[in-house]
Amino acid sequence: MDASFPSLWFLQALILTSLLTVHAQLPGAWELLVLNAGVASMHTAVTRFNTVVLLDRTNIGPSRKMLPKGHCRYDRNDAVLKKDCYAHSVVFDLKTNQIRPLMILTDTWCSSGQFLPNGTLLQTGGDLDGLRKIRTFEPCEPDGFCDWVELKDVELVNGRWYATNQILPDGTVIIVGGRGTNTVEYYPPRKNGNGAVELKFLSDVEDNQMDNLYPYVHLLPNGHLFIFANNKAVMYDHQDNEVIREYPELLGGPRNYPSAGSSLMLALDGDFSTAVVVICGGAQYGAFIERSTDTPAHGSCGRIVATDPNPSWEMEDMPFGRVMGDMVMLPTGDSLIINGAQTGTQGFDMASNPCLNPVLYRPDQPVGLRFMTLNPGTIPRMYHSTANLLPDGRVLLAGSNPHYLYNFAAEFPTELRLEAFSPEYLSPDRANIRPEIKGIPNMVRYGETFEVSVSVPLPVVGIVEVNFGSAPFATHSFSQGQRLVKLTVTPSIPDNGRYRIKCTAPPNGAVAPPGYYMAFAVNQGVPSVARWVHLVA
Ligand SMILES: *[C@@H]1O[C@H](CO)[C@@H](O)[C@H](O)[C@H]1NC(C)=O
Repeated sequence: MDASFPSLWFLQALILTSLLTVHAQLPGAWELLVLNAGVASMHTAVTRFNTVVLLDRTNIGPSRKMLPKGHCRYDRNDAVLKKDCYAHSVVFDLKTNQIRPLMILTDTWCSSGQFLPNGTLLQTGGDLDGLRKIRTFEPCEPDGFCDWVELKDVELVNGRWYATNQILPDGTVIIVGGRGTNTVEYYPPRKNGNGAVELKFLSDVEDNQMDNLYPYVHLLPNGHLFIFANNKAVMYDHQDNEVIREYPELLGGPRNYPSAGSSLMLALDGDFSTAVVVICGGAQYGAFIERSTDTPAHGSCGRIVATDPNPSWEMEDMPFGRVMGDMVMLPTGDSLIINGAQTGTQGFDMASNPCLNPVLYRPDQPVGLRFMTLNPGTIPRMYHSTANLLPDGRVLLAGSNPHYLYNFAAEFPTELRLEAFSPEYLSPDRANIRPEIKGIPNMVRYGETFEVSVSVPLPVVGIVEVNFGSAPFATHSFSQGQRLVKLTVTPSIPDNGRYRIKCTAPPNGAVAPPGYYMAFAVNQGVPSVARWVHLVA
């Protein structure tokens, strides 16, 4: 008895420890990529060269990255530095984790953006001297010297601060709203008008220049736009400047800036006749007005079939209340809700209780089983933070700066670290079903059939999907232009240790606007590393 006691005790301790570990180990893994990105990224976009553009703003004083020697910005009106030799935008190389400073000339604070059909990043508006500016960034190889270009011959017709951009089926970009700007305009400007056209919906839902900012804009596969602002949404025909449908109100008050939840359109598939929009979380109404940092955020999500003639919001609760979460579309069609806080609202120093647990949203599960709580991170990502899907299936987290200037001493400091979150599909025990794309065209045309060849360590059972993910412009808890299109595929055909999959490219620009997409092969929920494919008319 005496002799067996220690070993029994040891055994019990062992069982207890392993039970605890099982409970503590939620799915998903975190890694720190970079300690000092130089800037706190307020706007983030992944380029087809597997680099990432991080963009903050001017008028913010010293960042933690100098511009190249001899490069400075001279601005008598800069609030902090008349001579500013610091970078406020950088490009991050995903392969080497190197950071290269970029030069922006005017204030990009709370601006908007979108990739053009040829892969150039178009970025519009901002504050002060940047309010009407249009800038482009033509991405280049990681060892190149591409930089921001501010257009000289063309400006926005209306100043735009807190606007949302969306690429359209013809490859032009619509720019929706902005503070005190209840119009839309286009890049390049449309010929048949004076540039900006009133969108009365935006003024109808405006409350004291608020609640209609950074509207959630989704391009539906019928070519019209779903535009959500405050607690209302419309289907907007941008050709005729006409609201053609009003959706029922979403319960629970405003959901976009400054009450920021997040929103995405679920993956498009099948015959592409249906589109479903989801809006999750947000601040309780009143938290912004009262400047309350401890009012619990919404835990509710609304989901609506935007293409139904008579749709209604289906409501569902997340495991956590969350304001300023980011909804990131994953290559599988599931989405991640990550970043943000459990109390307060969007705005400077307006939130607390960071929500460190991402949750997975599985849209194909029945209500009640859709959310899965994931492994928590350690770095609060509050106001002015971003999340972007990377071509290797991880999600990049950048920024967080809930202060007017850089402040590294605050409770929620200016955050310069970059992290990546790996969803469970990248866990080592799934490696043997992870496909690798061996062959895919660099360019495909609408409706074209083409072949993708993949290799997979274990024999394939079932369908290997081929899914096109856009590269959105992420800012303020919403990814402008985010979409996932699941291609029509045939069952894979074994061929010399590989598998051939016949795919049909998206039928038109309403399903997938022209541009560069991350093409993922997905086997049993595990995505390959993406290859960039240029989708053209
Ligand atoms: C991409 O398109 C934009 C807008 O039309 C244009 O200004 C730019 O020069 C183009 N870039 C390339 C590399 O063709």
